[in-house]
Amino acid sequence: MQQLRNRMLSFFENLWPAEHKTLVFGEGRTEQPPIMLIGEAPGEQETLQRRPFVGKAGKNLDGFLAAVGLERPEIYISNVVKIRPTKVSPKGSVSNRPPNREELMLFTPWLYEEILLAQPRRIVTLGNVALKALMGRDAVIGEYHGRSVTAEITHGGRTQRFEVFPLYHPASIIYNRALTEVYAEDLHRLRQMLDGVN
Ligand code: URA
Repeated sequence: MQQLRNRMLSFFENLWPAEHKTLVFGEGRTEQPPIMLIGEAPGEQETLQRRPFVGKAGKNLDGFLAAVGLERPEIYISNVVKIRPTKVSPKGSVSNRPPNREELMLFTPWLYEEILLAQPRRIVTLGNVALKALMGRDAVIGEYHGRSVTAEITHGGRTQRFEVFPLYHPASIIYNRALTEVYAEDLHRLRQMLDGVN
């Protein structure tokens, strides 16, 4: 995994030589983790700390971990896009925005390589961006959440199937009571699958 990170670093340094964009890599168990969790992109805290899912997103992640009965170091946590996509308001304040098409096209092949290297036993995607990166542009979270599907990952002339369990992005459900319940049910189902209940 370190070699992949080094290659990414030199690729992006060459691509954006005059800009200092911080790459936030995946973290956790890099060899056959029981779960590889894939989010959208790092935010401000993630970029400052150079770690995925910290700060407020990290709190959401703690809820996920408690629900599925795993500790953070036991799983592998990453994002589709490894830089923070930002926008600037007319007043000059910087905030997050969703990754655009170009960013997704640039980073998705690196994600595939990361998945093939890590060989996770199961992938959990959070939200639409990660879902679409694995299942294609037509996939929508409302139709896919809470059940196992199969993704075919191709990179470097190699194709492999992985089990994917799509979830809503925890950040998107906070102010939506109905979705909060759906998310809790999905987590319960995931836990049952991990425990081999069904
Ligand atoms: N932080 C991350 O690292 N990824 C997300 O998708 C959201 C917050």
